[in-house]
Amino acid sequence: MPVSDRHFEYLAQRTLREDDFLTELKQAARAAGLPEIWIAAEQAAFLHILLRATGARHVLEIGTLAGYSAIWMARALPADGRLHTIEVDAKHADFAAEWIAKSDVADRVELHRGDARAKVAEFADASMDACFIDADKESYGDYVRAADRVLRDGGLVLVDNAFAFGQLLTDDQDASVQTIRAFNDEMAAKANVRSIIVPFGDGVWVGVKQDGAS
Ligand code: DHB
Ligand code: MG
Repeated sequence: MPVSDRHFEYLAQRTLREDDFLTELKQAARAAGLPEIWIAAEQAAFLHILLRATGARHVLEIGTLAGYSAIWMARALPADGRLHTIEVDAKHADFAAEWIAKSDVADRVELHRGDARAKVAEFADASMDACFIDADKESYGDYVRAADRVLRDGGLVLVDNAFAFGQLLTDDQDASVQTIRAFNDEMAAKANVRSIIVPFGDGVWVGVKQDGAS
């Protein structure tokens, strides 16, 4: 049975909700002119539950934007856990830094500024329990390769926008849409990751890294 709008509304109303702080963060981000492209609340809840269920302690996010997903995910970690989030846009990083600092997980989130390729290189092999990728689509191939290196065996690879902003199955020839189509095929064919596209928000890849799998 396909999920109708009414079913979706029903499930969203019974899904872990964002708190007032995160609603205020989104309002402030809109007022500051940030693009409204943060993940959907139910997708954030899903990522939070996945991290909690797998006991994740060290998480890497590529693409901080306003800090909405970083705060949602950091709240799933134990007190000594760390969520590292990387943002290349200075305005977005400034906004996120302010809101992360006044959040309840300020001590669990580390914001890194700059190009994700250079920043991820600073993390050791197999040092992360999960990586969430939600940044410039043209670099998704590079980011997933970087995530593959820093993820431990059994770690989660999470990637936003599998549905290409809703344009996946249209004739849209935009470069980022085409990149996502190719990326989805690449993910599906990866021998060392067991993965699925979950239809929340704009579609999110959830994969489990399996060292030595063929
Ligand atoms: C865009 C990027 C995103 O990560 C997203 O979730 C939605 C839209 C964009 O670049 O337009
Ligand atoms: Mg996205």
